[in-house]
Amino acid sequence: MIIYKPQDHLPESIESLVTEARVASQDAYAPYSRYKVGSAIRDTQGNIFKGSNQENASFPLCMCAERTTLYHYSSIIQKGEIESMAVYALSSVESPDLPPSPCGACRQVLAEFQSRQERTIDLILSNQNGYVWHFQSISELLPYAFDPKNLMI
Ligand code: THU
Repeated sequence: MIIYKPQDHLPESIESLVTEARVASQDAYAPYSRYKVGSAIRDTQGNIFKGSNQENASFPLCMCAERTTLYHYSSIIQKGEIESMAVYALSSVESPDLPPSPCGACRQVLAEFQSRQERTIDLILSNQNGYVWHFQSISELLPYAFDPKNLMI
């Protein structure tokens, strides 16, 4: 994992995807939690897909930004290869240096998207204070994930 601090120079490919995720977070529908999350995917063809969390008065139906974006991508692009995903959310005053942490369900879904393709997916977590954590594989966040191969008994 690579950690960038506010004063560090970000590679252009990371900075631009973080910007897309930040813009996407403005479209979150989060009247209940008030926690707006945005995410953006770049694939190997250069396609950019964005999404945000979408909540519901029936709370269990709330959908995270990461899965909104991944399922949208996969519904449109059948044989694509995702290169990276950036996630953006505001961090609290108590922990200004900690970017958002994808929930367990999103880690599991990200792991399956990674297993569907040849290459690993870079995951970039970012916040309003300029802290950026760059994971070079989903397995860094979810080691020994339950995998499609587990079903081949
Ligand atoms: N949320 C995300 O969008 N991504 C995550 O990885 C964690 C949580 C959303 C879901 C819900 O709308 C709000 O944040 C509070 O849990």
